Amino acid sequence: MKEKTMIEVIGLEKRFDGLDVLRGVNLKISEGEVMSVIGKSGSGKSVFLKHLIGLLKPDSGNVLIDGEDIAKLSGKKLDMIREKFGVLFQGGALFDSLTVYQNVAFPLKEKTRLDDNTIKDRVMEALEHVGLKGMGRKYPAEISGGMKKRVALARALVTEPSIVLFDEPTTGLDPIIANSIHRLIIDSHKKYDFTGVIISHEIPEIFEVADRVAMLHDGIIIQVGTPDAIKNSSNPAVRQFINGSAEGPIESLF
Ligand SMILES: Nc1ncnc2c1ncn2[C@@H]1O[C@H](COP(=O)(O)OP(=O)(O)O)[C@@H](O)[C@H]1O
Ligand SMILES: [Mg+2]
Repeated sequence: MKEKTMIEVIGLEKRFDGLDVLRGVNLKISEGEVMSVIGKSGSGKSVFLKHLIGLLKPDSGNVLIDGEDIAKLSGKKLDMIREKFGVLFQGGALFDSLTVYQNVAFPLKEKTRLDDNTIKDRVMEALEHVGLKGMGRKYPAEISGGMKKRVALARALVTEPSIVLFDEPTTGLDPIIANSIHRLIIDSHKKYDFTGVIISHEIPEIFEVADRVAMLHDGIIIQVGTPDAIKNSSNPAVRQFINGSAEGPIESLF
């Protein structure tokens, strides 16, 4: 892990229709680090992630990406900073009318001026990396849920972004496929060397993937530390979350 700060969130507040979702989130993520943000469903994890790429604007606070406040940027400048990012959104969101190949090629065609041969090489390399060599002609409807996630991951990585955001990359997958996606994220990080932010509620599996883990609760990061520090936390809300117990400071709504 390098020492340079890649992402710095300072006092981030966001409310919707009187609902305080983020109440002063502070978090620093180093270049090359993989940070996982955990927290119960509805705690604001996706809202947090959307601020990192400027899809949502803070009510107050700052979101610094490589030293630049993304909340203050718009137009071309925002587009330029967004080019640093690869994003794997919750649900994967492939284009159903495009083939696997076309889906992965899409960000290269949209965001770069690479020639067709270079694009082809990059797409083939990304597809091979995610274990989908030879699947380029398939359509999303013809492949399994786990394979769709692999395509979405290839698409997120193909531009060789310096930051990759993952919003619950394994939700809806069975445990074996989920594990294979986690392995693939680890391998991808080794190959592409990005700064990663992974939203997850896969406990304990995410502890094998992340360098550090931050828990979002009641609109703030209540603890951030190594997986070991989180596993041994004395914070009651962290303990309750990682043990999955119904009793504790986290209300269980069902
Ligand atoms: N665009 C929006 N407009 C209004 N409310 C929103 C919006 N996005 C998220 N919320 C609300 O913010 C809260 C946190 O949502 P979210 O970040 O999606 O939670 P999660 O931790 O499950 O990802 C929820 O109560 C959700 O309904
Ligand atoms: Mg979410």
